[in-house]
Amino acid sequence: MRLLVTGGAGFIGANFCHHLARTTDHTITVVDKLTYAGNRANLEGIDAQRLTFVEADVTDAPTVTRLAEASDVIVHFAAESHNDNSLREPRPFVDSNLLGTFTLLEAARHTGTRLHHISTDEVYGDLELDDPQRFTEETAYNPSSPYSATKAGSDMLVRAWVRSFGVQATISNCSNNYGPYQHIEKFIPRQITNILIGRRPKLYGAGLNVRDWIHTEDHSSAVLAILERGRIGETYLIGADGEKTNLEVMRAILSLMGQDPDAFDHVTDRPGHDLRYAIDATKLREELGWVPAFRDFEAGLAATIDWYRDHESWWREAKEATEAAYARRGQ
Ligand code: NAD
Ligand code: DAU
Repeated sequence: MRLLVTGGAGFIGANFCHHLARTTDHTITVVDKLTYAGNRANLEGIDAQRLTFVEADVTDAPTVTRLAEASDVIVHFAAESHNDNSLREPRPFVDSNLLGTFTLLEAARHTGTRLHHISTDEVYGDLELDDPQRFTEETAYNPSSPYSATKAGSDMLVRAWVRSFGVQATISNCSNNYGPYQHIEKFIPRQITNILIGRRPKLYGAGLNVRDWIHTEDHSSAVLAILERGRIGETYLIGADGEKTNLEVMRAILSLMGQDPDAFDHVTDRPGHDLRYAIDATKLREELGWVPAFRDFEAGLAATIDWYRDHESWWREAKEATEAAYARRGQ
């Protein structure tokens, strides 16, 4: 197949391209605007015969339509992805996440190209710590932040284009990813790189919020399973039963890096901070036979720490500016 991967120079999109290159014969065209979160170097190592890179905004309709025309499937990762940024400056989230998805849907409609939309568990809002129910495909949408609201809106656009125009689309909503190439603004790489430069890691509030961690390789294999065996018009939740409090993750990072597990600072909490996310991936497992390969979180975390230790040149330049932006918000 000829795959068009939007946002393929970002964290999850780049890991997906490496996964495709290793496990399939598909050809890959990446379209990416190269925002602060996109890095062309994330795709290094993929055979140039298999990969074409196009620097463009997904709201650029003529470019996107031309690329869709030449593709069998669009896998749509491109988005503004960080909640904290959406609280500071929401506009780019509306542009990229809503208008970007609209532009791709129109391209899919006019060219007949299939589209897989990558979304997030955050569209469902949050759960109480003791809620026995986890998110399923039937859970009502209830987003909290400008980021999750734009992702929820983009999912709704996809559903409307399927029903109204017969666009051949699927959606997946995944939980929190970790692994290589994640921008150092995000929780796990921020703490790892803080420790590597001798700065104390920063925990929002009491750290009792729960996130459901999945290795990005498992996200990639799940998306591939949906592309190969998923039913058009369906939504699949992706998760690997990885619930942990932020405090547990913080202490695990410190211990794995040979530090006192309590050597971190509590900082100003995120406004409107979602308490808990948790995915029930029964449909994906039973209907498509998908199983996660990374079941040992501590082992995955240790490998991720090694990656950041070995790739200082990849993250070093962005570190001061990223931390300065957090410092301005007391974080
Ligand atoms: P990221 O911020 O690391 O990467 C986003 C990529 O999209 C970057 O390369 C950026 O340059 C590109 N991009 C942004 N706006 C664009 C535009 N208008 N046109 C073209 N390219 C644009 O994000 P990520 O963490 O890799 O997330 C990728 C997708 O997965 C997003 O849709 C996100 O909502 C979703 N998701 C993320 C997670 C997670 O844990 N990070 C979990 C579930 C779903
Ligand atoms: O659930 C999926 C979502 O996971 C994706 O849709 C988002 O794109 C992705 O960024 C992620 O969102 P979160 O807001 O959960 O991720 P983040 O890494 O920003 O924060 C994880 C948790 O850690 C959250 O409860 C906030 C907390 N945190 C974050 C940072 C940056 C801290 O305690 N300290 C920090 O320095």
